[in-house]
Amino acid sequence: MKVAVVGATGMVGEVMLKVLEERNFPISELLLVASERSVGKKLTYKNEEHTVIGLADAVAAQPDIAIFSAGGDTSLEWAPKFAEVGTTVIDNSSAWRMDPSKKLVVPEINASELTAEDKIIANPNCSTIQMVLALDPLHKKYQMKRVVVSTYQSVSGTGVKAVEQMENEAAGIDGEMAYPYPINRNALPHCDMFLENGYTKEEMKLAREPQKILDDRTFSVTATAVRIPTAGGHSESVNVEFHNDFDLAEVRKLLSETSGIVVQDNPETNTYPMPVFANGKDDVFVGRIRRDETQPNTLNMWIVADNLRKGAATNAVQIAEYLVENNLVSNTSEAIS
Ligand SMILES: NC(=O)c1ccc[n+]([C@@H]2O[C@H](COP(=O)([O-])OP(=O)(O)OC[C@H]3O[C@@H](n4cnc5c(N)ncnc54)[C@H](OP(=O)(O)O)[C@@H]3O)[C@@H](O)[C@H]2O)c1
Repeated sequence: MKVAVVGATGMVGEVMLKVLEERNFPISELLLVASERSVGKKLTYKNEEHTVIGLADAVAAQPDIAIFSAGGDTSLEWAPKFAEVGTTVIDNSSAWRMDPSKKLVVPEINASELTAEDKIIANPNCSTIQMVLALDPLHKKYQMKRVVVSTYQSVSGTGVKAVEQMENEAAGIDGEMAYPYPINRNALPHCDMFLENGYTKEEMKLAREPQKILDDRTFSVTATAVRIPTAGGHSESVNVEFHNDFDLAEVRKLLSETSGIVVQDNPETNTYPMPVFANGKDDVFVGRIRRDETQPNTLNMWIVADNLRKGAATNAVQIAEYLVENNLVSNTSEAIS
């Protein structure tokens, strides 16, 4: 495969290259793409140096697959240009997620929806991916009615500038601010921009994306998204009300048997998921599994995952792997020429 990584110099882009290398994704030619600011920079993949190129040159090279992690505006403008030359785009931004003509994919749940005609495929929001992976087997068994989620999100979810802000603050250095307030020793109930309804865009992604991924609008999700000064992963407190009652041992079994989930849940040994353990791992970790004693058929869980891995790069590479394994990538313009 001729593969373009768009946003290769960014936080997600860097992990994307690691994940492609670790999983030995079949790459015959690699194009590393970023903004004009980075054109000419050198990046290393599998011990080989590659020079960063611009978007127009990458389109002209007609890659088979382009994995975008370069913000919504870049995706809106450039993903269709790649699609036009036959490239299959897997996009990490929010640009296409709720477009009814685009698939929103967590491979363990709905990769089977993908076809060769899907030229722009959306990767869900990082906080959505880890939550929906845990909700899917439980929804199938007990049928969800309502989910209340509060997130504790890592600064790495905002990108390079936010990590720099946190590090500068911790070191007492005056620097550029990615957030309107200090993040070190703080908690900001503010992830992404505020919308007219008083929620943030991140909270509305958590509310809407699970319905699309699970192809079911009979349940609802309400969210509060909070940024905290961690760098290793996002954590979520998730309260789920089901239509049907459940057995806690069966809930644990269903979750442990789900591909991509690791249950870490033993109060006697202080075993529960935390960002320091999830950091650098591809799995989604679930713990603090307990009954909500204030309401029937309701469960509490704590879900943690590395937002740059399963929340972004790993999920995108898994989509690419599914496309290759199922022969769904065919750059027709290349085939014609
Ligand atoms: N961080 C996460 O946990 C996470 C999770 C899921 C999805 N995402 C999404 O992934 C995307 C990237 O996030 P990030 O955290 O990696 O941000 P980041 O660290 O700020 O990196 C942004 C990347 O996009 C490139 N870029 C920016 N403007 C561009 C343009 N006009 N043309 C070409 N390339 C451009 C940058 O290139 P330069 O270095 O040249 O500026 C850089 O490579 C965003 O859409 C974000 O919403 C992030």
